[in-house]
Amino acid sequence: MTVERVQKILARAGVAARRKAEDLMREGRVTVNGRVAVLGDKADPASDSIKVDDKRVQCATSHCYLLLNKPRGYLTAVEDDAGRPTVMQLVPQQWRKALIPVGRLDYQTEGLLLLTDDGEFAQRISHPRYGCHKTYEVKVKGTPDEAQLDRLRRGIVLEGRRTSPCRITWMKSTGSRDEEGGNTWFAVELSEGRTRQVREMFFRIGHSVQKLRRVAIGPLRDAELPVGALRELSEREISLLRRTTDKVVAKPAKSRVAKRPGADSPARPTRPARPAHSPSSDSKRSPSRSEPSRARPARAARAK
Ligand code: URA
Repeated sequence: MTVERVQKILARAGVAARRKAEDLMREGRVTVNGRVAVLGDKADPASDSIKVDDKRVQCATSHCYLLLNKPRGYLTAVEDDAGRPTVMQLVPQQWRKALIPVGRLDYQTEGLLLLTDDGEFAQRISHPRYGCHKTYEVKVKGTPDEAQLDRLRRGIVLEGRRTSPCRITWMKSTGSRDEEGGNTWFAVELSEGRTRQVREMFFRIGHSVQKLRRVAIGPLRDAELPVGALRELSEREISLLRRTTDKVVAKPAKSRVAKRPGADSPARPTRPARPAHSPSSDSKRSPSRSEPSRARPARAARAK
């Protein structure tokens, strides 16, 4: 039995931030097993019935929420048949059981990745209907022009379906800016996470991705977390993420996909062939069994 202060349980369950939860208790709106809770009361979220305004609170009992700064060269999966390193190997043994990665970062992408054993939470973060945008910093070869960027902002056709509009903002240019040399960094904010979306976008306009890192998951950022390190989310962060994903956002109107092959990408470059199952085989165009689609919590991704 793990007893905790009631306001702490309420905050972790995403009912309200800790202070607001205390206000709810002062107002007599919180009960534990039918009795009005007062400040200082403790409860066991696993066995006690905690209600706010007579509505039972779904307590996040023993769930675990971790934030990993994924390095390049790790697969976002629980296991891999081909023996490639997976993000699970970066998780200390005590946390490994039942954890799933929330969404997916490509093998060569680094940055913030959540891991949890809370399937409902994973769904909120990864499904576009909850509106949890993800922000990436991307370094691309050369300097795309505004018309090309606008084309990407409007969305591209991926596997027969147009991606939702996205934000792209210039960050900096590096190296020589003549035609051959030089790279450009952009911040890209996506409202959905289609397979290899950012890489595919810039590939389509002939400016291949050199580096890609995820720097924000909704409001969650952590520029201090070293690459390869992980930490537990604070209660504040969990409830912030819950609150940001509380409302189901309207589905963007379906855009029609042009029938003409390549209509979306008149200047589409030819993709070089890549060997299967090499460490760089994250470049496969469709999700593998060991790299699940983002929309699905990745438990199903455990390679059989
Ligand atoms: N877009 C990509 O292309 N790769 C990622 O890992 C994430 C977004």
